[in-house]
Amino acid sequence: MPKRRTRAQTINWLAWLPAIAIVAETKNISTISVPSVGSASLTHTILPLDVITSCGCSKGASYYPTAALSQAAYGSSVASGPACGQCFNLTLRETFGAVPTWVLSEEQKVSTVVKIVDKCPAVKGQAPGKGWCGATSEKRNKADQFFHFDLSVPSPALNLSFFPSNLSYYGYEDFGSWIIDFEQTSCENWQGWNNETALGIDVSLTSESGCCSANPLVDRDVCPAFSLNANGVSTAAKKKIDPLPLLAILSASFGLMLLI
Ligand SMILES: *[C@@H]1O[C@H](CO)[C@@H](O)[C@H](O)[C@H]1NC(C)=O
Ligand SMILES: *[C@@H]1O[C@H](CO)[C@@H](O)[C@H](O)[C@H]1NC(C)=O
Ligand SMILES: *[C@@H]1O[C@H](CO)[C@@H](O)[C@H](O)[C@H]1NC(C)=O
Ligand SMILES: *[C@@H]1O[C@H](CO)[C@@H](O)[C@H](O)[C@H]1NC(C)=O
Repeated sequence: MPKRRTRAQTINWLAWLPAIAIVAETKNISTISVPSVGSASLTHTILPLDVITSCGCSKGASYYPTAALSQAAYGSSVASGPACGQCFNLTLRETFGAVPTWVLSEEQKVSTVVKIVDKCPAVKGQAPGKGWCGATSEKRNKADQFFHFDLSVPSPALNLSFFPSNLSYYGYEDFGSWIIDFEQTSCENWQGWNNETALGIDVSLTSESGCCSANPLVDRDVCPAFSLNANGVSTAAKKKIDPLPLLAILSASFGLMLLI
């Protein structure tokens, strides 16, 4: 979903990182590490040009193929997450939900390399198997997949004509949902790679309020995870960050507040 980040929250609460991290991770994040090759479900959604989404990637990225990734695979329940900026080659395999299923022949298969710029949120209170983006490490989504990509269309680089259709047989052109094969790839293979304005975080943001590496393939751990604490406040939840003694003391004195 196109969603503007709340910068102020992120910056203020970064100070309480160490204490909140444990709460955040156990309560709100169910991360699934994304394999370099796998299968997933895919839908598409309208994303206007020049919109900044969860990762805070440059507005210029919207001129090239981009997608949102299902929440647990994205790695954060709010704000940017570990999957931000990563590039995947998506190849359509067969329709999902159409009767009969259209399994594409090798010749009919089409692929596109997308950059992850957004989170596809798990719907609160909805069982993983009822929606697209709520899969957990144990439970698959409604298409029996652990991963879901939501492709942004149209962009000058990709529109609905990308999807195979057979109007005379099915009676409609847009199947809406597909089962795909994905493969993580270097962002050098992404159409926006040679356009400076499409890379990195948006100029209106700082590294504390967005994370969108030009090519995170080399370091999959480049963007921290964020979650909500019990008060619904955005908190970083990256294990890597070592608590400073001073912060630990401060956190202890705020222990009550943090436990709420
Ligand atoms: C780079 O992207 C911008 C949109 O952000 C576009 O206006 C411009 O034409 C692109 N430049 C090239 C060389 O493709
Ligand atoms: C994407 O996958 C398709 C199908 O396997 C392949 O033909 C194509 O070369 C791949 N593109 C990239 C950039 O890896
Ligand atoms: C859709 O994208 C294709 C390239 O993938 C392009 O040839 C075509 O003109 C685009 N159509 C529209 C309506 O933008
Ligand atoms: C549409 O589906 C029918 C029935 O399977 C098939 O005969 C026809 O070749 C298909 N057309 C395209 C463009 O795939």
